[in-house]
Amino acid sequence: MHSELIKLEKTFSPSILTKIDDPLLLQYQIELWMKRDDLLHPVISGNKWRKLKYSLDHALSLGMDTIISMGGVYSNHLHALAYVGKVLGLKTIGLVRGEPLEVLTPALLDMKNWGMELKFVSRTDYRVLRQYKNWEALPGLKPRQYWLTEGGAQALALKGVAELVAETTIPYDTFCAPSGTGATLAGIVDAVPAHVSVLGFSALKNANFLTADIEAMLSQTRNNWQINLDYHFGGFAKINAELNAFIVDFELKTTIPLEPVYTGKMMYAIYDLIKKHYFKPGERIIAVHTGGLQGKRAKIPL
Ligand SMILES: Cc1ncc(COP(=O)(O)O)c(C=O)c1O
Repeated sequence: MHSELIKLEKTFSPSILTKIDDPLLLQYQIELWMKRDDLLHPVISGNKWRKLKYSLDHALSLGMDTIISMGGVYSNHLHALAYVGKVLGLKTIGLVRGEPLEVLTPALLDMKNWGMELKFVSRTDYRVLRQYKNWEALPGLKPRQYWLTEGGAQALALKGVAELVAETTIPYDTFCAPSGTGATLAGIVDAVPAHVSVLGFSALKNANFLTADIEAMLSQTRNNWQINLDYHFGGFAKINAELNAFIVDFELKTTIPLEPVYTGKMMYAIYDLIKKHYFKPGERIIAVHTGGLQGKRAKIPL
């Protein structure tokens, strides 16, 4: 790996495994642990580092000086990329979904301050951009410009995600992760032993396409995984009072912060499924905390 990336990773905190202490889990005889990728780094936290690491290494090995990527106005991916670009001395360009904003979101403001060039693109053009998956696929790329698809979800992302699985050295029955593009889940499916079930929770509504997208990313066909589409709470970044109350209660009980877009919905879903006896008594579940806590700053109406 490139020496600058090794240097950066050395500054990270360990992603520990935290056992959730909760009488409800005892009652249902379920052991629930969180893989705390949120602790890795204040900005490049969670699955962001896992997904970016080997793509950045690839870009640096090719002598690229600019990374271009895409995301929404609260994008954790663009936020982490802007920061890492500043640290590594790479130029970054963010193609941001939607009309230009008069007042930037806190995430966009950070990106701008870290030197990312922000270019707003219409929702129609944004949808077109989604088809360019490979690092050299974006039409009009200039020499030394590297394209990173939405969420950093190119094949190299899976290699980084596999490392979080390798670090999970206790035995487990089920591995859970929240899903947007599905790259994190694909990396987990690729890396867990075949007897482990992998369960993804879509943060998006109508995400029927996710199964095929994940299948396309996997290095081999596996049948030990599924995506649950039932806990989107009305759509991406939509939230209601029940979810909010769950997050507040979970944070008070465990002191583990959750954000409402990905990890909050996943943990709500896991608890709900436990209460519905979806998991067998005696099961040990690992849920990945994929970070993204900067998203807590977004003012999401209830
Ligand atoms: C905090 C957080 N969790 C989960 C995800 C979903 O990851 P993926 O797009 O790999 O499914 C994202 C988006 O990348 C995210 O920002």
